[in-house]
Amino acid sequence: DKVIFNGRLTERSQINIDLEDRGYQFGDGVYEVIRVYNGSLFTGEEHLQRLIESAESIQIKVPYSISEMKNLLLKLIEENKLFSGIIYIQITRGVSQRNHLFPSADVVPSFVAYTRELQSPTEAMEKGVPAITLEDIRWLRCDIKSLNLLPNLLAKQKASEAGCFEALQHRSGTVTEGSSSNVSIVVDGKIKTHPATNLILNGITRQVLLDISRKNGLEIIEEAFSVEEMLQADEVFLSGTTTEIMPIIEIDKQKIANGQPGPVTKQLQVLFEDKIK
Ligand code: PDD
Repeated sequence: DKVIFNGRLTERSQINIDLEDRGYQFGDGVYEVIRVYNGSLFTGEEHLQRLIESAESIQIKVPYSISEMKNLLLKLIEENKLFSGIIYIQITRGVSQRNHLFPSADVVPSFVAYTRELQSPTEAMEKGVPAITLEDIRWLRCDIKSLNLLPNLLAKQKASEAGCFEALQHRSGTVTEGSSSNVSIVVDGKIKTHPATNLILNGITRQVLLDISRKNGLEIIEEAFSVEEMLQADEVFLSGTTTEIMPIIEIDKQKIANGQPGPVTKQLQVLFEDKIK
């Protein structure tokens, strides 16, 4: 497979990541995961825009424009003959002798991207999946798509060890988001999801969800909800690039409503499917 390494298309076996790359040593960088459906980027511009915003918020200047990055990614898709999958993109502050201080301005950020084949999780999306709740122990800039994912990894691992798909995080009882997805509930036909503050990643899928809901007459409000409200909700579902729209049918071993994916979630799955076709 080919990869993009500092702006150039190269063989994966040909690249060298320095052991003093700040991403490797400090997690000093940001990333994106973009879906490829039918050989095309899904919401590519939105992801690349967010990459630039994440980078700027930690004072990294992305050395390429959105259209330059898009062209590189399209070349990568073509070279790798990717039809259904993801592109992972990462940018770090670059290579420099280990020091907590930022390196001098002449150090260029490292930029890598590679592809992976991936199908939609259709079976799980039909049946729904169980989740656990967990205290959100992350920092206060969850809006930045930072490489520092240790709390997210710990949360996902804990969910998996409990036989669950995702960990639904909360701060003192107020639900924020999953370890790698956003979460919404449905109460009396109304959809609720956490507002796009510093406490969550403003998911691109979440933004698509807001858009398709509003265009199709579904009421959706950006308002935080409690763990209690979530457990009593009619429906709970996740949204994310790899997760798509995923029904949650059980939380902490307690069934959500009748323990089946609900009608609003199913409708959103259909609307989402129409959008990616
Ligand atoms: N994760 N919240 C968190 C913490 C995430 O890591 C993600 C995505 C989302 C959903 O965002 P989007 O709809 O833009 O994918 C929400 C990616 C897929 C990952 O880390 O693999």
